[in-house]
Amino acid sequence: MQRLIVPWLTAVALLGTNGLAHAAGAHTTSAAEWTSASLRQALSALPAADPRRGEQVHQRMFCASCHGEAGVAPTQNWAHLAGQKASYTAKMLLDYQQGRRLETQGAQLMRDVAQMLSPQQIADVAAYYASLPPPRPEQAARAGKDTTTQVAEQLVRRGDPQRLITPCASCHGVAGQGGKLEAPALAGQNPLYFVRTMLHYHGGQRNNDVAKGMRFFAERLSRSEIEALARYYADLGVERRR
Ligand code: HEC
Ligand code: HEC
Repeated sequence: MQRLIVPWLTAVALLGTNGLAHAAGAHTTSAAEWTSASLRQALSALPAADPRRGEQVHQRMFCASCHGEAGVAPTQNWAHLAGQKASYTAKMLLDYQQGRRLETQGAQLMRDVAQMLSPQQIADVAAYYASLPPPRPEQAARAGKDTTTQVAEQLVRRGDPQRLITPCASCHGVAGQGGKLEAPALAGQNPLYFVRTMLHYHGGQRNNDVAKGMRFFAERLSRSEIEALARYYADLGVERRR
């Protein structure tokens, strides 16, 4: 436990009273919502990236203390970044920086972290995570297919036309490897983080998705479906490594 708490406290201390004030305070006004066009423009305006410089950002800006040495977070609770698509990571850092993603105290802390990054550092660190192998969950793959796996598989491959849910795989890839534009990789993602962020889309606290895309799907899913999907994608990480 000590191992996990110390980096947190160090990071909060480094951020100073500014960080604490944000952590305690309410949401502030956010930047204008993205359109697909404004997002594409912002991402293509980032400078050319170098993953080796990105590794230095990861080490020197203390990203490693929370997200793990190789981008695999030390707790099941926090997002893994290893193997993530560069366009998604860059979008998240711009969203935090500009106050679009503020759904938890952790997100508010990420805003303070992101505000210290230059466009060059954002591009570099996003390229660095994209260059790392995707996470391998600690749990062994579960044997056999139970009913919750079937529920998840159905949603991933076929969606649910009655509820207008598009198959997750059509955007996130059949192996959860990420898809077009900023659709992130989901394979091997921490299940607790996955459930939390889906519930935040569901409740609208996370509202940085372009054109309410993920909010639309998440608000039609039950908690047990979300939990089944989280396990499905966590296990996909295992299968991809075999
Ligand atoms: C004090 C701990 C801490 C530090 C330091 C930190 N992060 Fe985070 N990061 C978080 C938390 C908490 C979240 C919110 C997501 C969550 O609830 O797990 C997050 C979320 C993110 C996300 C979004 C992940 C997703 O899947 O949507 C990215 C990208 C990210 N951080 C990158 C970075 C980078 C790059 C750095 C260093 C410049 C950094 N973080 C430093 C704790 C931290
Ligand atoms: C039409 C395309 C599309 C479909 C279909 C879709 N997603 Fe997404 N998803 C996205 C995009 C784009 C994002 C990034 C949104 C943002 O910027 O916050 C995203 C983000 C997410 C995230 C957040 C990842 C992170 O690291 O924080 C999760 C979890 C997720 N999707 C799960 C699902 C699941 C489960 C389904 C199927 C029920 C699904 N998505 C269907 C496009 C899609």
